[in-house]
Amino acid sequence: MLSGLFKLVFPALAGIFLLASCTKDPEIPLSGTYTPELPPGFPELKIPESNPITYEKIQLGKALFFEKGLSRDSSLSCASCHRQENAFSDPGPVSTGIGGLTGIRNASPLFNLAWKADFFRDGGVQSLELTPLNSLHAKNEFDSNTAEMLERLKRSTEYKRLFKIAFNDTITINGALQAMASFMRSMISGNSAFDEYLTGKTDALTESQIRGMNLFFSDKTSCSECHGGFNFRKEGFFNNGFFEQYPDSGRQRITLLESDRAKFSVPSLRNISLTAPYMHNGSVNELSDIIEIYNQGGFANPNKSEFIRPLGLSEEEKADLVSFLNSLSDYAFINNEAFRP
Ligand code: HEC
Ligand code: HEC
Repeated sequence: MLSGLFKLVFPALAGIFLLASCTKDPEIPLSGTYTPELPPGFPELKIPESNPITYEKIQLGKALFFEKGLSRDSSLSCASCHRQENAFSDPGPVSTGIGGLTGIRNASPLFNLAWKADFFRDGGVQSLELTPLNSLHAKNEFDSNTAEMLERLKRSTEYKRLFKIAFNDTITINGALQAMASFMRSMISGNSAFDEYLTGKTDALTESQIRGMNLFFSDKTSCSECHGGFNFRKEGFFNNGFFEQYPDSGRQRITLLESDRAKFSVPSLRNISLTAPYMHNGSVNELSDIIEIYNQGGFANPNKSEFIRPLGLSEEEKADLVSFLNSLSDYAFINNEAFRP
C-alpha cells in the first residue's frame, strides 16, 4: 500500500523538480553544484570551502572574464591576454595592456587551476580568487580599481540579474572574484592524444611519440622530476638554466632569498604546442630550441637545479621528445563552447 503510493507520488515529484530546475533561467542550462566528469587519472576537483562551485557562479564568472568594462578605457578583457585558441595564454612574448604598455612576463595559460597551490610565475598569490586583482590594478593591464569596477558593474541590469542568480545578492567585489575563480576552475583540460593513449587506445600516439614519452619519464632526461604528475608539473620553484642573465629575479621577488633568485614556477606541459612563446619572459619560440638548451645542460647559475645537466641526446631522441610534447594538446578544450562568451 505504502510503496504503491510512493510509486504514484515519486514520479510526480521528480517531474516538478525537473521542471523547477529547467525553468529557473533559460540561459543557464545546468544549475547547482558543478560536477564535471574529470579526465581519467585526475584527482578530485579541489574547491575551497569558502567558495563552493556552482554553474551559476561559472556563468557570471565567464561574463566577467570577457568583460571589457573591467579595464579603465574599456579596451581589454581578461580574454585579451588569455586566448582560448592558445589554451588561454598570449601569443605575444609579453602582453600589452592599456595604452600599449607592456609587462615583463609571458601570460600563463589558464587550465587545471583548481589543483594549483600558488599563482603567477613567482607564486606570489595563493588564492585563485585574488588573481584578478593583479590585472585590475596593474598600470600595464587594466589600470583600474575595485571601486571603479563595482561602479561600472552596478550600472548593468544584466549583471544585477547574474549576481542575483549566482549569489542571491546584489553586486559585490567578493562575488565578482568568487565567480571569476569559479569560471577558471571549470577550465579543465585533459583530453589529449596522450590521455587517450593512457586509457588504452594504443594507436593514439605515433612510434616517435611513444619513444619520446619513455625518454621524458626516464632518468636519462629527468623531465618528469619537475614536469611530472597528471598536470605535467610539480609544485615548487626551480632555475632551469635557460638564460645567462635574469633581470626578472622570479621567486626571489616574493621570498627575498638569494637562494630563490631566478627560480620560477614549473609550467604545466599540457597544451604546450598551443602556448608559444615559452618561459617566464616569452623569449623562446620553438619546442626544438627548448630541447636543444636542455640537452646542453643550460647556462651556469648558482641556483640551477641539479637535474639540469648535459643529456647527450641523439638527433632522433630530440625529435622524439618534441613529438611527444606535441601529443599533449587538447583540441576539445580550445574548441569548447563552454569557454566562449
Ligand atoms: C594585459 C594582459 C593580461 C590581462 C588583461 C590579464 N592577464 Fe592574467 N596574466 C597575464 C600575465 C602576463 C600573467 C603572468 C604574470 C606573472 O606570472 O607574474 C598572468 C597570469 C594570470 C594567472 C596566473 C596563472 C597561473 O597559473 O599562475 C591567472 C589566474 C590570471 N592571469 C587570470 C586573469 C584574469 C581572471 C584576468 C581578468 C581579470 C586576467 N588574468 C587579465 C596577463 C594578463
Ligand atoms: C628542475 C626542474 C625542471 C626539469 C628537470 C625540467 N624542467 Fe622544463 N621547466 C622548468 C621550469 C621552472 C620552467 C619555467 C622556466 C621559466 O619560466 O623561465 C620550465 C619550462 C619548460 C618548458 C616551457 C613551458 C612554458 O610554458 O613556457 C618546456 C617545454 C619544458 N620546460 C620542457 C622540459 C623538458 C622536455 C624537460 C626534460 C628534458 C624539462 N623541461 C626538464 C623546470 C624543469
